[in-house]
Amino acid sequence: MRARRQPSLTLRASLAFALVAMITVAGAGVYLYESIKETVMLRSDHAVLARLDHFRKLLRYDLTIEKLKSSPQLFENMLDNEEDIFIIAEPGKPPVISVNPLHAPLPPLPVVGQDRALTEADLRSGMSLEGVPLRAASAQILSGGTEVYLVAAHVMAKEMAMLATFRQRLYAAVTLAFVATALLGYLLLHRGLRPLRRMAAHAADITPARLDSRLDGQDTPIELHQLSEAFNAMLDRLSDGYQRLMQFSADLAHEIRTPVGSLMGHCQVALRQTRSVDEYQALLASNLEELERISRLVESILFLARADEAQSVLQRQPLNLEDEMQRVAGYFEGLAEERQLTIHTAGSGTLNADPILLRRALSNLVANAIRYADEGSEVLVLVEQRHREWLIQVENHGPVLAAAALTKLFDRFYRGDASRHQSSDSNGLGLAIVAAIMHLHGGRVEVTQPAQGRIRFALGFPA
Ligand SMILES: Nc1ncnc2c1ncn2[C@@H]1O[C@H](COP(=O)(O)OP(=O)(O)OP(=O)(O)O)[C@@H](O)[C@H]1O
Ligand SMILES: [Mg+2]
Repeated sequence: MRARRQPSLTLRASLAFALVAMITVAGAGVYLYESIKETVMLRSDHAVLARLDHFRKLLRYDLTIEKLKSSPQLFENMLDNEEDIFIIAEPGKPPVISVNPLHAPLPPLPVVGQDRALTEADLRSGMSLEGVPLRAASAQILSGGTEVYLVAAHVMAKEMAMLATFRQRLYAAVTLAFVATALLGYLLLHRGLRPLRRMAAHAADITPARLDSRLDGQDTPIELHQLSEAFNAMLDRLSDGYQRLMQFSADLAHEIRTPVGSLMGHCQVALRQTRSVDEYQALLASNLEELERISRLVESILFLARADEAQSVLQRQPLNLEDEMQRVAGYFEGLAEERQLTIHTAGSGTLNADPILLRRALSNLVANAIRYADEGSEVLVLVEQRHREWLIQVENHGPVLAAAALTKLFDRFYRGDASRHQSSDSNGLGLAIVAAIMHLHGGRVEVTQPAQGRIRFALGFPA
């Protein structure tokens, strides 16, 4: 089943930016809209109150209701706004002047007495028949001794129309902001992510044969620097591992070819003519020896291959190191005697380790010591705890090794000069196995030459 593809980063980021731009524009727009609305409302309120006040003064001081009755037309003309409402009436009589072109119903209004100033609190809100809001107020006045009522109202048709236009523009601006930011964002991000695509293309070009190719950190932005560095470091490790693998298989082929070739040679020579039983027996015995060596080689290689893979093979248990040293020393006693070597052990302690692997590492070191030590010298095996670490050291007298050779000792198939002469026995895998075992234990192995002609291998196990 194919995994669901995630939407593109460019698309997601530009949509997110567009959303932010949209929200920002909408927020600013709503704020402006509300403040304009408030100003408009206030102005319309003031207009209503000013008109009422104006006519109240007019009727009180200059113009009597009687005069008005005689020429109402003149008065009606004085009103400028065609939707606005203006009513002048005496109580209980039909109004003298009634301008209400839209026939808007008026809300119940408190009547403000002639001696009180008109304020915004005297205004009431209503609604025209078309649903347009209106603001109205009413005042009372004595005009030439007659009680007169004035009602003024403003129908906010123009204001509402203006606000509606504003709203439409706002919607348009918000939509435009979204679309423009999304498009621009997409283009810019697409451009900005070019180094990433370059990296991908570069990575796609890398094959086992071209593992030496590296990403160029020069023209990558800082954010991708880390990625390109990590990528390059990964390539370093891969290339290193690959190199070693190649070397390993080449060495392996080479190592196996020699004994197999010699086995074949022996057999071919033997088959050329009829041989005596003794000769056949000798051939079989020598072949068996060679086969044993191949078998050891294959077993070691298998061990190393498995050690590369897994941590789970470890079966740790507490081990008495004194016993372990004794056991190995005892095992190699015969071989040591052949070369007039003496094995000394010292120290004690308990260590948590895999017994089979620990014995194997220790035997490999002691086997080397016995094989490469100067005849008649001493081999030291000692155990000590130092800085939260258990150290098992194997030391012998032997040839002086060059510093360059020392670093190679743990490489697979590496054999020093000493062993070349007796190469039938030596595979060059013993120390590689020791290193692998130490790696499995989270420990380390180290070789030093503490004095001229002395060589010391130390296994460090974390305590
Ligand atoms: N104790 C030592 N003294 C001097 N040289 C040593 C010692 N141990 C190892 N070496 C050198 O290091 C080389 C590598 O050792 P290693 O144990 O890996 O392989 P080997 O002994 O040659 O073969 P194998 O252990 O697989 O049979 C040896 O060939 C030898 O030259
Ligand atoms: Mg060895």
